[in-house]
Amino acid sequence: MQNELFGVVAHDNKNDELRTAEEWSQEAQSLRAALHLHAHRYYNLDAPTIPDAEYDRLFQRLQKIEIEFPDLKTEDSPTSRIGGAALTEFSQVQHAIPMLSLNNGFEDEDVLAFDRRVREGLETQGEIEYAIDLKFDGLAINLRYIDGVFTQAATRGDGTTGEDVTENIRTIRSIPLRLQCENPPAILDVRGEVLMFKADFETLNQRQRENEAKEFANPRNAAAGSLRQLDPKITAQRSLGFFAYGIGYLEGAEKPASHRALLDWYRQIGIPTCQESAIVQGAANLLEFYRGIQLRRTQLAYEIDGVVYKVNRFAEQARLGFVSRAPRFAIAHKFPAEEALTQVLDIEVQVGRTGAITPVARLAPVFVGGVTVTNATLHNEEEVLRKDIRVGDTVIVRRAGDVIPEVVASVLDQRPLHTTSFLLPEHCPVCGSAIVKVQDETIARCSGGWLKCAAQRKGGLFHFASRKALNIEGLGEQLIEQLVDKNVVTTAADFYKLGVLGLSELDRMAEKSAQNILLALENSKATSLPRFIYALGIRHVGESTAKDLAKHFRDMDHLMAANEEQLLQVNDVGPVVAQSILHYFSDTLNVELVRQLIAAGIHWPQVEALDLSSAVFAGKSIVLTGTLPTLSREQASALIEKNGGKIAGSVSKKTHFVVAGDDAGSKLLKARELGITVLSETDLLEMCQD
Ligand code: IVH
Repeated sequence: MQNELFGVVAHDNKNDELRTAEEWSQEAQSLRAALHLHAHRYYNLDAPTIPDAEYDRLFQRLQKIEIEFPDLKTEDSPTSRIGGAALTEFSQVQHAIPMLSLNNGFEDEDVLAFDRRVREGLETQGEIEYAIDLKFDGLAINLRYIDGVFTQAATRGDGTTGEDVTENIRTIRSIPLRLQCENPPAILDVRGEVLMFKADFETLNQRQRENEAKEFANPRNAAAGSLRQLDPKITAQRSLGFFAYGIGYLEGAEKPASHRALLDWYRQIGIPTCQESAIVQGAANLLEFYRGIQLRRTQLAYEIDGVVYKVNRFAEQARLGFVSRAPRFAIAHKFPAEEALTQVLDIEVQVGRTGAITPVARLAPVFVGGVTVTNATLHNEEEVLRKDIRVGDTVIVRRAGDVIPEVVASVLDQRPLHTTSFLLPEHCPVCGSAIVKVQDETIARCSGGWLKCAAQRKGGLFHFASRKALNIEGLGEQLIEQLVDKNVVTTAADFYKLGVLGLSELDRMAEKSAQNILLALENSKATSLPRFIYALGIRHVGESTAKDLAKHFRDMDHLMAANEEQLLQVNDVGPVVAQSILHYFSDTLNVELVRQLIAAGIHWPQVEALDLSSAVFAGKSIVLTGTLPTLSREQASALIEKNGGKIAGSVSKKTHFVVAGDDAGSKLLKARELGITVLSETDLLEMCQD
């Protein structure tokens, strides 16, 4: 009986004993067909029509039949995806048509020159029709289908001979084991890229960490490592993806007329292709696509290192031909590299405003992600030891987008002799106080406090003057550094005692600039209670907690007098935050500082008691990500808070909504993964209007 909705065969298990060999064979066949179809709907069309549990049931039924009747097992059976026997080595595969590489360009000029060569080659003045693909950062693979059945997969190797990775590729669920067509070609070689999606890469590294195994430096390495497993069962546990972008040998079917037609055909017969592609006329449009995708790069679910431009019509490709080992009809337009190799010259530690000790790698200058990098954070001691980064090592440095540069991994086979593991210093390099590590915390801290440690003092003062705190324009890091070193300023209250004379004595400070700073100081006196609380730099009290505290206590006296029980009543304040606030105000110097600042003239409007319990976002935690079309981040936050919501910095299971704009990155991915409702600016405005 054919079930219309599920397209699968249902049958009565009780009659199993009575069935003929022919009936078993028929059932196995229809189960296979159904599983192929559902895998295709699930992985490639993103439109499953049966629940996962039903898929599993069909899968297990097929497995059971195949175990009982091994003769019924076919090469294209979906059950083979769980990984067969391990190999001792990969065998070699000769490619029917060599797998070549692409010429690269980085600058606009390289693309214009490519377009000129193409037009010369085709002897035309007119604009060329180009197909644009993304340049996936994975590994090139040739998939061979014989009579529509997946039979072999090979890596690119040296272009002529690759390695047979058939059993590993078989575990990739988006790759069809049988083509979805009536009359498949006798032989079809599909060319494309195996890659690992960013989310799967994060999950894999998380698992590696839990198993205390080495993490992968990037999705490409993870994909390569997973594909080069001799045991396909390991590959089966790693989620890999695939996008087709070309064709090799073809027999028994007419080759489509263009690159676009080829990808359309692939899509029809169930071979995964990427949705992000375009057909354009002329070079100017190539560059426009490049810039557009560069902006959206971080939002993509997979990594790319550029785009590939191809003359669309195959007849024109053939006329242009090849030069040495690369086609004349295509070019890769690469993004500036986000990763580069360099040497660790030293590992120093920096002391933050709360005394947090951060190891920083001093690097031989290297150009990466469009800038020259000389330092990169190593986050904390644990991370340096886990990654085993040592002075003298050659390391991979990464700078993606505007993210601060970081050291990804050491290249172990280039490690010089006699290096030693990183050792956290016992004393603060700035004030000499002991460095201590509280149990269960990854961060080590200087125990000197701001009174003893100039680094903490500078950090605290810089925080006080920063944009989200008292926003004192012109009072930057370098100026504060000098003011502290010359003992002109010790606490934030000293800022308000500065005069033109004192400031003009500093290096390179003109009287005009001194006056501007005094004006900025004067302006900063009119502030808000949340900003003031945040500016104090109490540990664990960020912008959002400061707002909650201000809303709850409504003035400084009440906050300073609060006991633990009262603090715990504040929205989102737990024992750790409460302790930290109590600890801060138990120090009379801090209480004195607050008094002095208020005496210097810092003031704020009285905080009104508001009842937001029935507002749209009452009790909801909301994360903002990306650039919204019209609202600034501050405006969107204010709107959400006015409607009872709370802004959170990162997406978790506790997040109720994510408001996403352009260039939303990993937070949006995470939200999708967790099934959290994603709102646009329009949604947000509409909800707030109601
Ligand atoms: S077309 C004749 N298209 O780039 C060469 N290659 O440098 C045809 N790659 O080994 C290759 N994305 O691994 C092509 N959309 C794409 C690609 C792509 C990534 C890789 C591929 C190849 C290398 C060429």
